[in-house]
Amino acid sequence: MSNILCIGAGYVGGPTMAMISKYCPEHTVTVVDINQERIDSWNSDDLPIYEPGLLEVVQQTRGRNLFFHTDIAGAITDADIIFVSVNTPTKMFGEGAGKAADLQYWEKTARDILQNCSKPEVIVVEKSTLPVRTAEAMARILESGHSSTKFSVVSNPEFLAEGTAIEDLANPDRVLIGGEENENGRKAAETVAELYAHWVPRDRLLLTSVWSSELSKLVANAMLAQRISSVNSISALCERTEADITEVSRAIGMDTRIGAKFLQASIGFGGSCFRKDILHLSYLCEYYGLPEVADYWASVVRINEWQTERFFQNILQQLFNTLAGKTITLLGFAFKQNTGDTRDSPAIPLCEKLVGENARVRIHDPKALENARVDLKHLNADISFVEDVYEAVEGAHALALVTQWAEYRELDYERIFKVMAEPAFIFDGRNHLDHAKLFEIGFNVFPLGKTPFKHI
Ligand code: NAD
Ligand code: UGA
Repeated sequence: MSNILCIGAGYVGGPTMAMISKYCPEHTVTVVDINQERIDSWNSDDLPIYEPGLLEVVQQTRGRNLFFHTDIAGAITDADIIFVSVNTPTKMFGEGAGKAADLQYWEKTARDILQNCSKPEVIVVEKSTLPVRTAEAMARILESGHSSTKFSVVSNPEFLAEGTAIEDLANPDRVLIGGEENENGRKAAETVAELYAHWVPRDRLLLTSVWSSELSKLVANAMLAQRISSVNSISALCERTEADITEVSRAIGMDTRIGAKFLQASIGFGGSCFRKDILHLSYLCEYYGLPEVADYWASVVRINEWQTERFFQNILQQLFNTLAGKTITLLGFAFKQNTGDTRDSPAIPLCEKLVGENARVRIHDPKALENARVDLKHLNADISFVEDVYEAVEGAHALALVTQWAEYRELDYERIFKVMAEPAFIFDGRNHLDHAKLFEIGFNVFPLGKTPFKHI
């Protein structure tokens, strides 16, 4: 029986610890955070994040062997295994601004651990995504305080995707555990592996060195994002050549060496991690004297930004090069379906560009309106947030589909067409809708990487 602690009750800390508490009932799992409001939500049935299946798991274990609170010092005192799952955003100041990882939250937890730990042996598990060699820095901080505790630092990056977090945690492709290359390190890695072995088959538990583990996490995200940028770049070529990006993606994805996933053209990838992690990777390459490699990865982000710009330019051009006073309705604001998370959503730069043209923007999203309000509060413009989708489209000149919520396929587009301004336009930033049918109804339809359907 161990006391497991997780510092950071966010999108990763909450779901991951809920699953560990579910599958390891003999251990006590505590999740702490500096944010009281977040902790209060975790202790209610209105969880701070929307994630299918999460509430059921939390309800099963909360109060049994899963606890949420804000007494960070007290929780560290009792802990045998400490997962650190705090945010590691891009640094926005000083050296490496706009690229490097901002490690201030992470370093604060290292110092909190050092100050408050009391057990003779403590395993510190890096759950946050961190630049290579951060574990080594963590170990140095922990060893700096003449503490009687013997620390081991293990890297255990998380690969869950939002919207499918519970499924991904229940059935991961692999769990990566990087341990220090000495007896103590191997023992600590094995202790962490033991937890996962409660539900993950042993052959999916991958034990590596700490540094390979840290680097693999950054590279996994960079490779996933690179596939999207590759496809998005080809979507532009498809539009010029009358090829169809869905057909091209399907054709290349059927090659088992390439595989079918992450080949969906889009308005651009978003989320809290892809851009940040690629920029961290690129900065690391620069730091280690590899400017060509740094530029290669940075180009994945550049193409992504260009794809959102391209989507916007098309709206502007098709609406006769003027958006002033016109109403554009965004269908979706979250960075992907099945989440209310809007961090780095392409909807944010899209709205900035639209209001830059004096357009009126209406936003609909089934789960993300609250976050959207916060994201756009810096814009002094005509923006409204509308809960009812049919109200959101009333009088609109164009619809821009940003998020592939299933419900957007089921809408009554004949009804929508009747209440929109004419000519009515749909820009499908996800190739999510039935374009031929929409065209038949009377819309001018602009998919990505395909020939548009135009009445005018
Ligand atoms: P998040 O912002 O949702 O959660 C982080 C939490 O840490 C916040 O609630 C914050 O209040 C808390 N925190 C910050 N400093 C603290 C401190 N000193 N003491 C206690 N609590 C503190 O972030 P997230 O999305 O859960 O991401 C966490 C890490 O996991 C990041 O490194 C991220 O790159 C990585 N990651 C995220 C995802 C994802 O899908 N979101 C997936 C894999 C990995
Ligand atoms: C991603 C990774 O998939 C996770 O493995 C990783 O743990 C996580 O980042 C992280 O480190 O934070 P997530 O960002 O939650 O997960 O969601 P994804 O499903 O990867 O989607 C990311 C973005 O790419 C979304 O905006 C999505 O719409 C977009 N996308 C995805 C495409 O544009 N095309 C695709 O084919 C796939």
